[in-house]
Amino acid sequence: MLVSAKEMLDKAKAGHYAVGQFNINNLEWTKAILQTAQECNSPVILGVSEGAGKYMTGYKTVVGMVNGMLEELNITVPVALHLDHGSYDHCYKCIEAGFSSIMFDGSHYPIEENVAKTKELVAAAHEKGISIEAEVGSIGGEEDGVVGMGECADPNECKAIADLGIDFLAAGIGNIHGKYPANWAGLSFETLDAIQKLTGDMPLVLHGGTGIPADMIKKAISLGVAKINVNTECQLSFAAATREYIEAGKDKEGKGFDPRKLLAPGAEAIKATVKEKMELFGSVGKA
Ligand code: 13P
Repeated sequence: MLVSAKEMLDKAKAGHYAVGQFNINNLEWTKAILQTAQECNSPVILGVSEGAGKYMTGYKTVVGMVNGMLEELNITVPVALHLDHGSYDHCYKCIEAGFSSIMFDGSHYPIEENVAKTKELVAAAHEKGISIEAEVGSIGGEEDGVVGMGECADPNECKAIADLGIDFLAAGIGNIHGKYPANWAGLSFETLDAIQKLTGDMPLVLHGGTGIPADMIKKAISLGVAKINVNTECQLSFAAATREYIEAGKDKEGKGFDPRKLLAPGAEAIKATVKEKMELFGSVGKA
């Protein structure tokens, strides 16, 4: 059964480790991530962007697929199904469809409007036992065509949003989605420290988990980060393994590739990436 992400993240924050959010795009990714979480005895969050939800035909299909896998793969570790960077309308769609967690990304609205919309969605989510993440300060890079500049959040705005009753908070601290440029200044631990001082026990979320050096990840966890999002790194490992398989030319005498065999190396690569992240984040054995 899907669970809200609140309890697993409160535990992670108190225990000084982080739970990984791995974004899903299809059946193979979902299965690989769930199997790895079970094998590592780790809680896990499956992230679904609006674009990925659309690609997988819609949120109800995603909920059906994930619930079916939890049962048929005998998954017993805590699993949350979470809308990633949701708009106001799509938060409602996911609440209706059976997601167990949502993120409302109101970071592009003026702070007053972000506050008003977040407040309303907190009530709607909590009424159904669903956890909710909010964002302050846009996270840089490009995701699903949305480009942010990677600013640092204002700690006082973070406090204002945290006080609305959200379950965890994403705050920009110089992190960006996708690969980091060579001249990246690194995470702003000063900002993170100030945010944690004002928001207390609130689990903090680090987006753009791909390409952040291990020592920075560990320091971020020590300053209150309890959820780390990873997408690009799974994409890169999946693509590399699939490319290698195709280049090896193992098609069936001109009949093309067996689709199940074609996608298997990519799924194995995702498993390896997810396991490595769970070890780095410290969530192994924490289910
Ligand atoms: P990366 O694609 O950089 O791993 O970031 C993922 C993310 O933050 C999803 O919200």
